[in-house]
Amino acid sequence: MPDMDELIVTSDGSMSIRSRRFGETYHSHHGAITESMLVFIENGLKAVPAGLSECFIFEMGFGTGFNTLLSCLYKDNLKIVYETVEKYPLDSAMWESFARSQWPEKTPERFLFEEIHRAPWNQMIQLSEGFSICKQKADLLEISLPASHYHLVFFDAFSMDAQPELWNEKVFSQLFTSMRPGGILVTYSSRGEVKRNLRAAGFMLERLAGPPGKRHMLRATKPFIKETI
Ligand SMILES: C[S@@+](CC[C@H](N)C(=O)[O-])C[C@H]1O[C@@H](n2cnc3c(N)ncnc32)[C@H](O)[C@@H]1O
Repeated sequence: MPDMDELIVTSDGSMSIRSRRFGETYHSHHGAITESMLVFIENGLKAVPAGLSECFIFEMGFGTGFNTLLSCLYKDNLKIVYETVEKYPLDSAMWESFARSQWPEKTPERFLFEEIHRAPWNQMIQLSEGFSICKQKADLLEISLPASHYHLVFFDAFSMDAQPELWNEKVFSQLFTSMRPGGILVTYSSRGEVKRNLRAAGFMLERLAGPPGKRHMLRATKPFIKETI
């Protein structure tokens, strides 16, 4: 059917989905897990200050739940409260088939992935020791976020070409306000316009080496004092 999403296998062997609605894949076709691990775990989760006892994470775009799963698997001793928003949740047939293709055997990762997808929407629950999650079924543009709350933001929208309404200064300013001073936002994009809009919102930027197929990615930090010039 022309409006159905389809499962794809990416270059590192991990699964992703091609969205018919947006005409893009949920992850890089050069490797879904490789991309999520570098952008969100190594340059995000592993970059939060050592000694933090509890980390509040906000993810833009829950999608397949890969970033959630990897955060839960690689959190070490960090306690995580994970909030994520998703406007177009995958239906159960899609995420179940995704899980079977990614993990043909019933591995602990598959079990956790399924638990994450079965978790109720719009409710904070404790998924495992030290990992609580609230998946909000909503449009990022219509929710309000708490002020000075998040230590870490995963900005994982489809590209600026597909979703120009999500990569602008207004959205980044809302995220900036929702973050604690010193908090970081990571995203796979390093486009000039994205950098300008993040800077205009008040962030300090670092351009880091990107995952396969992308030269760079961005890490944006909320300074302790907002630059006014
Ligand atoms: C690039 S995909 C990434 C998904 C996810 N992080 C993953 O690892 O699979 C972007 C996600 O954002 C969701 N999305 C798009 N527009 C949105 C909006 N306005 N509010 C909330 N979610 C949105 C899409 O449905 C999709 O699941």
